[in-house]
Amino acid sequence: MCGIIGYIGAIGTDSDDELDTDGGAAVSGAPTASVGDIVHEGLRNLEYRGYDSAGVAFVGPTDGLTVAKRSGKVDGLLVPDVPDATHGIGHTRWSTHGPPTDANAHPHTDCVGDVAIVHNGIVENHETLKRELSDHEFTSETDTEVIPHLLEEMLAEDTDADLLTAVQRVEDRLEGSYAICAVREADDRIVVARRGSPLVVGRGENASFVASDVTAFLEYTRDVTYLEDGDVAALEPDGVSVYHDGEPVERGVETVTWEADAAEKGGYDHYMRKEIHEQPESLRQTLAGRLDLDAGTVDLDVSFPPGYLADVEEIQVVACGTSNYAGRYAARLFEELSGVRATVEIASEYDVGAGRTPDRTLVVAVTQSGETADTLGAVRRANAAGARTVAVTNTLGSTVTREVNETAFIRAGPEIGVAATKTFASQVATLAMLAVAIGRERGALGAADARTVLQNLSGLPGAIQQVLDAEATVREAAKEYGDSEAFFFVGRDLGVPVALEGALKLKEISYDHAEGFAAGELKHGPLALVTPETPVLAVLTEGACADETMNNVTEAQTRGAPALGCVSSGREYDTLDAAFSVPDVGIVEPLVANVYFQLFAYHVANQKGRSIDKPRNLAKSVTVE
Ligand code: F6R
Repeated sequence: MCGIIGYIGAIGTDSDDELDTDGGAAVSGAPTASVGDIVHEGLRNLEYRGYDSAGVAFVGPTDGLTVAKRSGKVDGLLVPDVPDATHGIGHTRWSTHGPPTDANAHPHTDCVGDVAIVHNGIVENHETLKRELSDHEFTSETDTEVIPHLLEEMLAEDTDADLLTAVQRVEDRLEGSYAICAVREADDRIVVARRGSPLVVGRGENASFVASDVTAFLEYTRDVTYLEDGDVAALEPDGVSVYHDGEPVERGVETVTWEADAAEKGGYDHYMRKEIHEQPESLRQTLAGRLDLDAGTVDLDVSFPPGYLADVEEIQVVACGTSNYAGRYAARLFEELSGVRATVEIASEYDVGAGRTPDRTLVVAVTQSGETADTLGAVRRANAAGARTVAVTNTLGSTVTREVNETAFIRAGPEIGVAATKTFASQVATLAMLAVAIGRERGALGAADARTVLQNLSGLPGAIQQVLDAEATVREAAKEYGDSEAFFFVGRDLGVPVALEGALKLKEISYDHAEGFAAGELKHGPLALVTPETPVLAVLTEGACADETMNNVTEAQTRGAPALGCVSSGREYDTLDAAFSVPDVGIVEPLVANVYFQLFAYHVANQKGRSIDKPRNLAKSVTVE
C-alpha cells in the first residue's frame, strides 16, 4: 500500500505575505505553507501507509515540472526548493512491483518529462500495456509506469486533449485497483482518478487537496469529499470538478470531526503507546449513544432492513491478522449471545462453503482500514454467492463500505502505529454490540442478560484505565523477562483470541519468537518447547476458563517456565511469577487482559530499541492479495 497527496492553492501566499528565505510564504499564526512544505508534511502524515520510498513532483512557472524521489523514508527525501510552485503531488511507497529503489519510487514520468503521476494500487494488465508501449522508454520495474506513458500516447494522438481528458481515456485502459494523481507541465490543475483504492479530496479556502487519507491535510481543511470508484476529478485552487463516465457529477462535502492532534503523537514516544493509552477514550467513542442499559438494547446506527438479522442461520466472520482475532472473539459472542452458529475464517482462505444457505448467511467483514485486499476479496466472494454482508471498520469512505450491504463503524479514530491496538478493542466492542443486536432481534437474548453484557461493555473504559495506571508493573516484567528465548501466550475460550493477539503483537514489534495457543493444546505438542527461557503469559479471567487454564500453566511451570498471568480481581493464583489484576467486567475481561499484553509487547520492543511504529517488513494496510 502507498500514500498519495496532492495540493494546489495559495495558502500563505496572500499578497501581504513575503516569501521567506526558504522560498515558502509566511502567514502570521499559521505554519509556513509553500507547496513543498504542504506536500512534504502530508507525506510525513501518510508514511504509516508505506515507507520504503518517497517522492514529489512540483509544477511552477519558472522551472516547469520538477521531480525528486528516492528509496528510504520520507525524511530522507531532499525536497527540491521550487519557490513559485503552484501545485504538487507526493508519494510514499510500500513496494509491490519492483524492490524499493530510487528508480522504482514514484512519481513516474513519461519519456519527455511532461507528465508525472503517483499511484496507489496495482495495474493488473500492466504487462499487456507495456508490450503495446514498446517504443517508450521505461526506467522502472513498476506496474505504475505504464500510466504516464499511456498519458503521453493520448496527449500525442490528440493535441487538443488536456490532462483531464487524457486521464479519463487512460482510466478506461487500466485493470485493477488504483488511485492516481497526475500533473502536467502545461496544465494548471491536478487530475486524480479512483478505482478501488482510497482517495479523498479536501476543500480548503483557496486551496484543494487530495490524499489517500484525510490525516495528510487535516491541518488545512476538514471539508472533504470521498470520491467514488470510477470518479475522475480536476483540482484547482478554487474548487474541484468531479466526473463519472465522462459526465460532471456532484459529490457531497462532509466535515471531519477528528481533532488534528488525534493524529499526532501527543507527548508519547511512539504512536503505539499513545494509541494503547487512548483506549478508554476511543472505547467511549465506540460505545457513545449506542447502549440502552435500561432496555438492554443497542443502536449501532446501522439501518438493517426489517427482518434482516432475524432469520440469519449462520454468521461467518472474515478478517486478517488482528482483525481476525477480534473476529474470533466475536464468533464466540455471536454463538453465546445471538444463538447463531458462527465461524471465523482468515479472509484469504474464505469460501462460503458447501451445504450453506448463502441468503441466510451473514458475512461480517472486520477490517480496521477497510482496504485490506484479502478481506475485500472475501466480501466479493460472499456477495457473489448471495450472502448478506456487513462491514465492521474504522474508516469512513473506505472501499469495504462500498462493497457491503451495511457498515458498522468502530469509531476508534486514526491509528497510526502499524501494530493495531485501540482498534482491536473497538472492533471487539462493536462486534459485541452487534451480537447483542442480533440476539435481541432473534429473541435469543433476554433483556436481563443483554443488560449484563451492556454493563460489562460500559465498564470497559474504566477497567482499561486501571490497567494503564498499572503500566509500571508491566514495564518491570518486560525488563525481567524481555530477553527470553521465546514467549508463549495461552488462554481458553475468549482467552484464545487474546493469546493469539498477544503473541502477534509481541512478535511484530519486538521481532522475538512468540506463539499463542489454546491452553489445553500445550500438552499436545508445544510443551516440548517449554524451558526456563520461555515465559508463559496466560489469560486467567472470566470468560476464559481461568482455573483450567491455570492447570495448563502449572504444567509449563513444572518444566521450568516462568508464568505471568492476567487475573480477574477476586481470584488468586499464588504460584504465578507475576500477576496483573483485571477488574471485574464479565465477558470482556479477556479484552482488558489484552491491554497488559499490548504494554508487555511495547516495553519489550522499546527496551530493544525496535522501530515500534513501523516494524520491519510491515505496512499498516495491506492492499495486495
Ligand atoms: C497487526 C495488524 C494486522 C492487521 C491486518 C488487517 O497489528 O495490524 O494484522 O490487523 O493486516 O488489517 P485491517 O484490519 O485493516 O483489515
